[in-house]
Amino acid sequence: MWNAVLGAVLTASLWWLVSSSDAYLHNFKKGHGKGHLPWPLDVFSNTRHHNVCESEECKETAHTLLTSMDMTVDPCEDFYTFTCGGWVKSHPVPPTAPHRNQFDLVTEQLDYQLRGTLLSVQRAVYLGATSLNYVAGETEQSDILEEEDSEGELAPVRAAKQMYRACLDTEEVERQGVSTVCELLTQHGGWPMAQEHWDEGQFDWQAVLVSMARRLGLFPLVLLYVHFDRTNTSRNVITVDQPSLVLPRSMLVDPATYSSQLRAYRRWIIDATAEIVKDQNQNVPRSKISIDAFDVVEFEVKLAKLTSFDEMRRNVYRMHNPMTVRDLQKWTDSAETQMKLQWKDLLESLFQDINATISQNEKVEVRELDFMFNLMKLISRTPKRVVGEHSLRTVSKQRILN
Ligand SMILES: *[C@@H]1O[C@H](CO)[C@@H](O)[C@H](O)[C@H]1NC(C)=O
Ligand SMILES: *[C@@H]1O[C@H](CO)[C@@H](O)[C@H](O)[C@H]1NC(C)=O
Repeated sequence: MWNAVLGAVLTASLWWLVSSSDAYLHNFKKGHGKGHLPWPLDVFSNTRHHNVCESEECKETAHTLLTSMDMTVDPCEDFYTFTCGGWVKSHPVPPTAPHRNQFDLVTEQLDYQLRGTLLSVQRAVYLGATSLNYVAGETEQSDILEEEDSEGELAPVRAAKQMYRACLDTEEVERQGVSTVCELLTQHGGWPMAQEHWDEGQFDWQAVLVSMARRLGLFPLVLLYVHFDRTNTSRNVITVDQPSLVLPRSMLVDPATYSSQLRAYRRWIIDATAEIVKDQNQNVPRSKISIDAFDVVEFEVKLAKLTSFDEMRRNVYRMHNPMTVRDLQKWTDSAETQMKLQWKDLLESLFQDINATISQNEKVEVRELDFMFNLMKLISRTPKRVVGEHSLRTVSKQRILN
């Protein structure tokens, strides 16, 4: 939105400085701005006689700026609505998103161009009719990812097509997914809730994080990814962030209001675990599963309360915390808990396939400083079986949600 806002503010400010008279506004509202303004400002006449850009792009940009404004509002009363009211009105924030801006629109358009009609129209319908108009009306369909490979195409384009096809091969994904999950569970001592005797000694949460991330791309407690450096986009930086939750954060942090949803969630965990217990010929009474399920949901509620809500995450300055691996280690160690995460080892294990060496001086970007600190406290206060159950269970949730 900032492009539009900035553009509109500039345009509006100029107009306002030069022509701050009621008469002008009055004329303008009636649609007769002709001839009252010096040439750069009079958009309705004179333009042809001067050096004004008349390309399609310029016209479209001018149109966007004009429609972003709300001329029915007196700028002396409410300057923001005067400059941006039109945009705000035609782009409501969808209930599923914390914001709506120009970047969202561009992302949608890109999705549309990459993946073709179906997915984007579904997404647009999901986000609201305005985006559908935008997507269907203003972009050309091209389905880049669905085209056949062609000679001489760029390597990243070819790689993206291959990845896209691999993702669509759901049979293979299912087959590999199930065996990977079984292997992973065996390796880490199985689902704690579904066993008569779960060996706590076998459980190492750092090792679980590594295998979940490497084998399944899941991040149950800490989200790690490589992102461009916001201070220099020619560089990439390892980014450490809060994880996403299974239920919406708003539900988890308000268990009183959403008690029926949380109850249903708990029941689902119990039923799913009972199925696994049966399948594994274990003998775990339902009452014991219920207690565990209660603890797991309680843990997720606490975890949710440590995370920042979306509106807080609009502030890029708050989320810009560049530091070395060594400093991150010092920071989380300062929580003074028994359960320590060894960041250097964790990152090295994560990147072992590409033989990357991570030194203590490696720069990382920590998005949520407080979360990392508080997470260590939460984990050390929580029984291992609950941490294990939550972490390993992300697999089943992920698969069901997808
Ligand atoms: C940005 O990063 C690149 C790659 O590391 C480097 O060559 C360049 O000098 C950096 N630019 C600035 C302004 O720091
Ligand atoms: C990583 O190192 C191993 C052993 O030296 C080597 O076999 C493998 O090809 C290397 N992988 C990459 C991606 O460089």
